[in-house]
Amino acid sequence: VSGRVRLSPLTSRDIPNLLGLIRALAKFEHLPPPDKGAGRRLRAALRAKGFHGLIARQGGHPVGYALYFFTYSSFLARPTFYLEDLFVLPGARRSGIGGKLFRACAGIARKRRCGRMEWAVLDWNRPAHRFYRKEGGRILSEWQPYRMTLRKGAF
Ligand SMILES: CC(C)(COP(=O)(O)OP(=O)(O)OC[C@H]1O[C@@H](n2cnc3c(N)ncnc32)[C@H](O)[C@@H]1OP(=O)(O)O)[C@@H](O)C(=O)NCCC(=O)NCCS
Repeated sequence: VSGRVRLSPLTSRDIPNLLGLIRALAKFEHLPPPDKGAGRRLRAALRAKGFHGLIARQGGHPVGYALYFFTYSSFLARPTFYLEDLFVLPGARRSGIGGKLFRACAGIARKRRCGRMEWAVLDWNRPAHRFYRKEGGRILSEWQPYRMTLRKGAF
């Protein structure tokens, strides 16, 4: 892949491309891929502003994305920018696209007057840990993530 990299806000027209990229991220993380209804639910959630996204194109081809939404910090009394996914296709990595997406997210977070950005990284994903430290992130070692599964087939 080569050519200029452009970021644009994710729209419903991007959902088929987004699904392909989410599938690639799931494969990378050894996690189950999106199910049959995922495209329809993503489209509905995007329309309802349940999440937002940025898509990176290089020479017109989708090569990466960031997906985010806002949570809220009562202690700061400010919104938190929650980065749900950040992904760049293997062939397009190490050329600054991930950094560009991440810093665009930080710009949106500042504009929305967020107090923080937060995200989670799998423990074995050393390159991602290096990437995020370089971008200014720090691990919250004193907090442990919890989850309660609400649907069969989810985890
Ligand atoms: C993490 C990720 C988004 C970074 O995207 P990218 O386009 O490669 O990022 P950039 O080119 O802007 O920055 C690369 C920097 O990240 C770090 N990095 C990324 N991949 C690395 C690797 N395989 N080995 C060592 N360092 C790595 C380095 O600090 C590197 O800087 P350098 O190239 O100057 O050494 C991308 O590697 C990716 O999609 N990985 C798979 C999915 C993932 O891990 N997502 C984040 C999990 S939440």
